[in-house]
Amino acid sequence: MNYQKMNSDILDQIKTAVGATSVFTDEESLATYCHDETEDLKYYPEVVVKPGNAAAIAALLKLCNELHVPVTPRGGGTGLSGAALPVFGGVLLSMEKFKKIIEIDTENLQATVEPGVITEEFINAVAEKGLLYPVDPSSKGSCFIGGNVAHGSGGPRVVKYGTIREYILNLEVVLPTGEIIWTGANTVKYASGYNLTQLMIGSEGTLGVVTKIVTKLIPKTSQGVLMLGSFSENEAACAAVSAIFRAGVTPSALEFMERKGVEWVIQFDEIKFDLKAGVNAFLLIEFDGDDLDTIFKDCEKVNQVLEEHGCTEVLFADTAQQKEDLWRMRRTMAESVKSNSVYKEEDTVVPRAALPKLINGIKEIGSRYGFESVCYGHAGDGNLHINIIKAGMSDEDWKNKLRDGIVEIFQLTTELGGTISGEHGIGLVQKEFMPIKYSELHLNLMRGIKAVFDPNQILNPGKIF
Ligand code: LAC
Ligand code: ZN
Repeated sequence: MNYQKMNSDILDQIKTAVGATSVFTDEESLATYCHDETEDLKYYPEVVVKPGNAAAIAALLKLCNELHVPVTPRGGGTGLSGAALPVFGGVLLSMEKFKKIIEIDTENLQATVEPGVITEEFINAVAEKGLLYPVDPSSKGSCFIGGNVAHGSGGPRVVKYGTIREYILNLEVVLPTGEIIWTGANTVKYASGYNLTQLMIGSEGTLGVVTKIVTKLIPKTSQGVLMLGSFSENEAACAAVSAIFRAGVTPSALEFMERKGVEWVIQFDEIKFDLKAGVNAFLLIEFDGDDLDTIFKDCEKVNQVLEEHGCTEVLFADTAQQKEDLWRMRRTMAESVKSNSVYKEEDTVVPRAALPKLINGIKEIGSRYGFESVCYGHAGDGNLHINIIKAGMSDEDWKNKLRDGIVEIFQLTTELGGTISGEHGIGLVQKEFMPIKYSELHLNLMRGIKAVFDPNQILNPGKIF
């Protein structure tokens, strides 16, 4: 793709469009915005723009569309698929000034919020009003709600409450041509033509820039129980997952963790945890609700299932501190792995009964290619994060052979009825694997949608396909 390079004339026009104080070309800014959390990838933008309102973004996109300058939108920069990397240089559009929670409507159980609000701050703000916004990815302390929309984000509670897709009612979006639209209506139902709200969710900033978000909220529950099941085998733990649902129970979280991940978290985060010999896999299971008796009945059913699947020990978190420690253990796993080794992160998802085949297959592929892996994730959703560890693999093999191993992992995922990302998106690093899952016909439908929204391909080019 040939784009117009930045020059002083274009820079002046950008300053006129958005205001000079929102435009940065100093080295420090360019270095800050040249990476997200994806491996150690770096792509430098030519200019960083931090507008404060939709009109400024509209003026910026209109200009860049006319001049053919690429624009890469960015939220909190916590992405794991490289969707916020400005691979063609151009404008890095940071949404960090969009920080307002505009309204929490306690009558309709809705909120209107700007995309630069940190997810956890939003969760806390609605909680103060007795409400729950259950979309809480591990990066909730620093990711933006706009980035969550862009990626169709999930997190541990998807298993009961659904992904962000269930919570977004309506979006204000600036199109690449500079026009501004609302995608739908602030209603829980929508049968009025193509659903542009849902199309925008997960589009990774390739179709438009979201500037306002209307979310659904639900009443907050008052009780919660957290249990941890230990297993000697990954396969047994994974097999228990689908059995839990067949027993008629829906936990509010059902997470899988491999021993190695727990070992690294203990080192990285200094969490006190008695990691016993012979335990190789864990299921972290949470229940919420308002009636403790009902919750305990569900726990009993789950206990029974765990026992039938060879669970060696069940620990109930008694105190708030224990609960927090166990959740911290799970939530800091990605960071711990990253701090420990050169790694690559893949985000597989399969129908949950296929999890045992997936985990065994990953290990078998790893042993053929010589890589180790640390797997953990949202087992209740069939969503396994695979951290591939360089371990003893030579630099040469890591560079040239690993890709074939990843292809095999995604082929397996696809054969098992799954897909190549459950919640981290495709972005830059997974796009080469899209043809494993999708035919040219399928990809052309996606390309056609892109062309309708962004005929000049200026918005987040080089992503998804
Ligand atoms: C998690 C992130 C990596 O589940 O998705 O921790
Ligand atoms: Zn996750």
